[in-house]
Amino acid sequence: MRMGVDYYPEHWDRSMWEDDARLMRDTGISLIRVAEFAWSRLEPTEGQYDFAWLDDAISIFANHGIQVVIGTPSCTPPNWLVEKHPDVLPIDALLHPKHSGVRGHRCYNSPSMRQYTAKIVERMAAHYADHPAVIGWQTDNEFGLHECHCDHCNVRFREWLKDKYGSVEAINEAWGTVVWSGEYSSWSQITTPLGGTKHQNPSFVLDYTRFETDSVVEFQQLQIDILRKLCPNHFVTHNIWSYPMPLDYYKLCENLDFASLDYYPSTDPEKADSNGYSGALTLDLTRGVKRRNFWIMETISGPPGCWFPMWRTPHPGFIRAFGWQSIARGADTLVHFRWRSAPTGAEQFWHGLIDHSNVPGRRFEEYRQLCGEVEKLAPLLDGTEVQGEVAILHSHEQYSAFRIQPQVEGMDYFDNLKSIHRAFTKLGIMTDVLDEAADLSGYKLIIAPSLFLLDPELVSRLEEYVRNGATLILTPRTGVKNRNNVCWIQPLPGPLSEAAGVTVAEYDPIGKDTHTLRWKDGKTYSCSQWCDILEPQGADALAWYEDDFYAGQPAVTGHAVGQGNVYYVGTVPEEAFYLDFFRDIAEQLDLVRFSGLPEGVQHAVRTKGTSRYLFLLNLTRKQQTVPLDRVCQSLLDGQSIGPSLNMAPYAVEIVELSR
Ligand code: GAL
Ligand code: ZN
Repeated sequence: MRMGVDYYPEHWDRSMWEDDARLMRDTGISLIRVAEFAWSRLEPTEGQYDFAWLDDAISIFANHGIQVVIGTPSCTPPNWLVEKHPDVLPIDALLHPKHSGVRGHRCYNSPSMRQYTAKIVERMAAHYADHPAVIGWQTDNEFGLHECHCDHCNVRFREWLKDKYGSVEAINEAWGTVVWSGEYSSWSQITTPLGGTKHQNPSFVLDYTRFETDSVVEFQQLQIDILRKLCPNHFVTHNIWSYPMPLDYYKLCENLDFASLDYYPSTDPEKADSNGYSGALTLDLTRGVKRRNFWIMETISGPPGCWFPMWRTPHPGFIRAFGWQSIARGADTLVHFRWRSAPTGAEQFWHGLIDHSNVPGRRFEEYRQLCGEVEKLAPLLDGTEVQGEVAILHSHEQYSAFRIQPQVEGMDYFDNLKSIHRAFTKLGIMTDVLDEAADLSGYKLIIAPSLFLLDPELVSRLEEYVRNGATLILTPRTGVKNRNNVCWIQPLPGPLSEAAGVTVAEYDPIGKDTHTLRWKDGKTYSCSQWCDILEPQGADALAWYEDDFYAGQPAVTGHAVGQGNVYYVGTVPEEAFYLDFFRDIAEQLDLVRFSGLPEGVQHAVRTKGTSRYLFLLNLTRKQQTVPLDRVCQSLLDGQSIGPSLNMAPYAVEIVELSR
């Protein structure tokens, strides 16, 4: 477990490197990430590589015991490359090129882009393979999908479709192109989805999104192959941006050693009670990408801003608390963005740990404290992991399918997943957030929000977990379509109807209207977005609607299957419903739970063998009291704490739980 910073030696006069390195060492930093945008310095003109400046910088840092992660610079093809081979630029749906001078201006399928990337990565890998200070690589920077419609992408897209479907007839069939006379009679008629209209065939657009993910994965794989071959002793990772994301991170990270996340929690005081919850989800998702601990490759160090007005500066305690939150949920290394604010360029006001003044201030002192604490606790925390008893399923593909066809105003796949996760976090129940394709054996409870696209294979896996004792919770818009994004011709929830023991007689997309739901004990809750009017086919009704022509009709059902249960929640209820419902289920299933957390305070547990470390984080601007129900010794400062724990704004406590 260690601390690092993102450092751009090329942004500073050389005379500053030595002082920076010394201050880093004195602060407890043992790692820098460098070079991910430095192509124009590493290869100033074609074929003229210049690594001398980076060697000099690295050796200064190495002399102070600081190790190095090198970023491959493929996110920023330099101007000479763009000038010589304009096909490196991505082309948008209206056939305009995305210009250079910003970043991310690279078509993943451009042969020149691939060739020049391979060359520079090979040179860098060969040069640094045996450097004693270099420990690993980051590919590119924050890959994303940018919809390229260039000729190369069109050729590759047709090849991709040939591989998948074999014939034009099979595509016509799979996508249902008969609608609006969209049938293809030859391959040459198939292009990427040009024109940028929302009226395109959803099956076509979803396949194009998959193709784009595969293009990124291939582009990255080219780099991974080189790095594996030339640097067998180094790790390879990538810094994923955040969520939600159409790019499939599970595929992107498949051949990496671990995932890294760039984590920028909002500093907005109005979000102070809530932003820790979306952060918790992002961290749980990142841990789920490879089902193992991860790195934070960038995180907040000061007020963000630049091409948008600046956010508030991190409140005292914020940088430290969110650093610990990342560790609590599975980060093993924290790399802060960035050491010092840039005096030039597009990100002048995305502040680093040190301001333009070059005088380390309040934020730096807080960061220094965090470094000291991490160093102190590393021997205990190294090798510890996070494991939940509850799995929440996530899918980039479901997210894309909903993005292609928004179902009703106010319904957002990811926001709905967020509310479910937030309820568990508030209840003090740790969750693993996993790819819907992941092996879920061992989980007592599985929540599968809106499995819009559903295939028989996923259905039979879910059914089997349930038969073997798992509880499964389904929500609206489940089983609507097959993987071709084509509707199932059968009652909802489609292929899961049998397991759910219920069908949907009719639905009402109520959007932002609110309705009321009555639980069997008489308690009422509001609901919105969607109302599935349910017809039990073996399931028991557990809650009913109170409004409209379907007043009295079932809204939530439960169905015993084998040793398990399937719940179908036919609407999108307010949080209070989730809290009560999940609390009940947690009691029935005897799930481990930290009860009594006040709003905005989070817990997490990291374990190794029989050692268990409890983290308590007050991620709010308020003083809070937490029922610890025992007296413990703080691992941070050795003080006795509890049984009732007073937490100042952004306070953090870490204790070892007795066995
Ligand atoms: C990240 C990116 C960094 C930097 C940072 C602040 O998304 O990877 O290079 O731009 O945001 O804007
Ligand atoms: Zn392209």
